[in-house]
Amino acid sequence: MFLGIRKDEIKHLLRRLGRDSRDNFANVELKSLFSELTFNIITRMVAGKRYYGEGSDFEEAKHFREIIRKFSIECRHQIQEIFLPILRWMDYGGYEKKMARTNLVFATNTAAVTMEWAMSLLLNHPDVQKKAKVELDTCVRQERLLEEADLPKLHYLQNIISETFRLCPPAPLWLPHMSSENCQLRGFDIPRDTMLLVNSWTLHRDPKLWDDPTSFKPERFEGGERGETYKLLPFGTGRRACPGSGLANKVVGLTLGSLIQCYEWERVSEKKVDMMEGKGLTMPKMEPLEAIWPLHRTLHRLSERHGPIVSLRFGSRPVIVVSSPSVVKECFTKNDVIFANRPKFVMGKFIGYDYTVVSLAPYGDHWRNLRRLSAVEIFASNRLNLFLGIRRYEIKQLLLRLSRNSVENFAKVELKSMLSELLLNITMRMVAGKRFYGDNMKDVEEGREFREIIKEMFEFGGTSNPGDFFPILQWIDYQGYNKRALRLGKKMDVFLQGLLDECRSNKSDLENRNTMIDHLLSLQESEPEYYTDEIIKGLIGAIQVGGADTTAGTIEWAMSLLLNHPEVLKKARDELDTHIGHDCLIDETDLPKLQYLQSIISESLRPFPLAPLLVPYFSTEDCKLGGFDVPGGTILLVNAWALHRDPKLWNDPTSFKPERFETRESETYKLLPFGLGRRACPGIGLANRVVGLTLGSLIQCFDWKRVDEKEINMDEGQGLIMPKMEPLEAMCKTRQVMNNEQENIGNEA
Ligand code: HEM
Repeated sequence: MFLGIRKDEIKHLLRRLGRDSRDNFANVELKSLFSELTFNIITRMVAGKRYYGEGSDFEEAKHFREIIRKFSIECRHQIQEIFLPILRWMDYGGYEKKMARTNLVFATNTAAVTMEWAMSLLLNHPDVQKKAKVELDTCVRQERLLEEADLPKLHYLQNIISETFRLCPPAPLWLPHMSSENCQLRGFDIPRDTMLLVNSWTLHRDPKLWDDPTSFKPERFEGGERGETYKLLPFGTGRRACPGSGLANKVVGLTLGSLIQCYEWERVSEKKVDMMEGKGLTMPKMEPLEAIWPLHRTLHRLSERHGPIVSLRFGSRPVIVVSSPSVVKECFTKNDVIFANRPKFVMGKFIGYDYTVVSLAPYGDHWRNLRRLSAVEIFASNRLNLFLGIRRYEIKQLLLRLSRNSVENFAKVELKSMLSELLLNITMRMVAGKRFYGDNMKDVEEGREFREIIKEMFEFGGTSNPGDFFPILQWIDYQGYNKRALRLGKKMDVFLQGLLDECRSNKSDLENRNTMIDHLLSLQESEPEYYTDEIIKGLIGAIQVGGADTTAGTIEWAMSLLLNHPEVLKKARDELDTHIGHDCLIDETDLPKLQYLQSIISESLRPFPLAPLLVPYFSTEDCKLGGFDVPGGTILLVNAWALHRDPKLWNDPTSFKPERFETRESETYKLLPFGLGRRACPGIGLANRVVGLTLGSLIQCFDWKRVDEKEINMDEGQGLIMPKMEPLEAMCKTRQVMNNEQENIGNEA
C-alpha cells in the first residue's frame, strides 16, 4: 500500500538532484532533502497532501512548513534532548501543544537520519559505493529505475543498510520502557516503575559480539550475522518494537538504491565526512548548534518576552536568569552569601580536582583560603609589579614579530594566534618561568599540546552535558561525557604535574626562579598537608584557563572594533602621541593617564564580554529576588551580555562609542564583564594591565587597516568563553616610534 506515493516522492527527489548535476558534479545538501522526502511521504499517506516541493504552494502547506521550521529550530540538537524537556516543563511558548507533532517528526526523522548516515558512510567508503553500484547495474541495469520489488534480491544494498543501522542506530537508547511489576533480571530484583533503557548503540559495537566492530563492513552480513535477534536491534524488540520498521526499510532501501543507481557521488573535499554524532531523540549527525547557541542570545530572547527574571528548568535543575541592574544588585548585596556558590557539574569533578579549584570550589573556608592565597601570592600589586619585566618583554616580542614584514609596506597579519601565544607566554612565565612561543623555542610542542588541552576544555565546557541536568544519564554516562572529561582532566594533570616536577627538581634551565610555582612549593615545605600538589596544580591551572584566552579574546575584539572604526583608532593614536610622544614606547605606568584608551577597553568589553553569562552561581538557601521566591539549589545565570546592550540602560547601545565612558555613563550594576560580589574575577588587575599595555602598544607602534573594504565580521563563535567566529586578520605598517625602538628590543627580560 502507498507504494505509488513512495515511488513518486523518490522520483521528485531524483529530479531535483538532476537539475544542476547533468554536466558536472553539483554540491547538494542532503540532510534537508531527506527530511522533506520523508515528510512528504508520511503527510501524503496520512493527509493526502505534499507539503514540500512542487504542488505545495498553498496556505496550509506554508503554515505547516513554518511550524516544522520553528519546531526543528526549537528542537534541533540540544533541545531535542535537554532543552525540549526543559521548555516542556515551563511550557515555553505553548510547547505542550507543539509537542503533539513529535510523533510525526519522530517517524520521519528516523528514516531521514538513517539515509544521511548511510550516504555519509558511502562517501567515506567509495569501495563499498562502487560494489553497490555494480550490484544495481547487474540486477536492475540502467534501462529502468529501481523498484521496491527489486529490493529483496539486492543483498549487498540490504547489507549496507544493516551495517548503517548497526553503527548509527537512529534511536540508540530506543524509547524508554517502564516496568509495571517487580521482576528479576540476571538475578537482580527490579522494582516496578523502573525505567529501562536499552543501549542498542553499545550492543551494536560490542567487540564480544562483532568482529572489528568500529569498521564499516557490509560484508559481515553475508555470513548471516544479522540473523541473531538480540545483537542487532535498531527497531527495538518485543511488544513495543517499532511498528514502522517495514516502511522505514522500504523508504531507506528504495531511496538509497535509487541515489546509487542514478548518480555518481563524491565528497565535497578531500576531507572525510565528519561522523560525529549530534544530540536528539533520534541520533542525528552533528552540525552547528545554531538554534540554541549562543545561549546568552537565546536567554536574552526569553527575557525580552518574560521580563528581567526568568525561571527555567534545565532538566531536573531550577535555573534563574537575571538581566536587570536592580535584580543583579539584589543578588550581590542582600543575597551575596547565598549566591557565592558554584553549581557542581561533572566537568568540575574531573577537570577541577573534585571541585577544589578556586573557580569551582564551594563557598567556605577552603575557597576563602585559595582566594586569600591568590590575592597575596599572585594578584597583589607587588607581585604583579615583579612580573612587569615579563609582560614588557613578551609584548615587545609581539611588536617585533609584527614589524618584521611591515617596515616598508602594509603587511597582512593573523592576530588571533599571536595574541593567544602572547598570553600563554606571559601566564606561563609568571607561573613556571617557561615560554613556549618565539624563535628557536625548544618547548613549542609542549606549548601546542597545552593549547590543545585548553581549547578542548573550552569547547567541551561549552557543550552542555545532559548528565548535569538528568541524573539518570549521569549513571549510564550517556554519550561518554564522563569518560571524556576524565581523559581531559588526566591530560591536564599530567601537564601541570610536569611543570611542578620541573620546578621542584630545579634541573632545567628555567630562566626565572621567582615563579608562582616556586612560591607555592616553598609554602608546601612549611605546610605540606594543606599545600598539596593538587592544590598547587589547581591554582596554576585556574590562572592558565581563566586568564589567557579571556585576555587575548578581549584584545582581539577591541582591535576588531578599532579596525571597523578608524576615527576611534585615530583618536586613540593622537592620545598616545600627545602623552607618550614618538621617542619611547608606552609603559604600564602610563595607562592611568590614557583615558581614551581606557574608554575603548570598557566600550569593547560592553558589547563583547568574554564571559557573557559570567560563571554560573548556585543558591544555598531559599531567598527572594525581585519579589519572587527562589528556592535553595537554584542555578543563577547573570546575562551580562544582555545588560550591556539594553537600550533602557545605554544610549544607542549598538554603536561603538568610547566617549560614553567620558560622561560616566557606566554604573556598577550595568557593566560587569568581570562579574560581581565575592566570586568576582580576581584577575581583573592583571587583565587590565595586559590589555591596556598590549592594545596601547599596537596602536602606538603600527598603522592599521582592514584586509579589504569589507567590515570585520563581528559574529561570535561557540564555546564557554565568547570567541570571535572568524580569527582576526588585519594589515599593519610599522610607525616611526617602533623603528626608533628596534635596537633596544630583545635586550630586556
Ligand atoms: C579580560 C579578561 C578577563 C575577563 C573578562 C574575566 C572574566 C571573569 C568572570 C566574568 C568571572 C566570574 C565572576 C563571577 O562569578 O562573578 C571570572 C572569574 C575568575 N577569573 Fe577572570 N576574567 C579575565 C581575566 C582573568 C585573569 C587574567 C585571571 C588570572 C590570571 C582570571 C582568573 C579568574 C578566576 C580564578 C576566577 C574564579 C573566581 C572565583 O570563582 O572565586 N581571570 N573571570
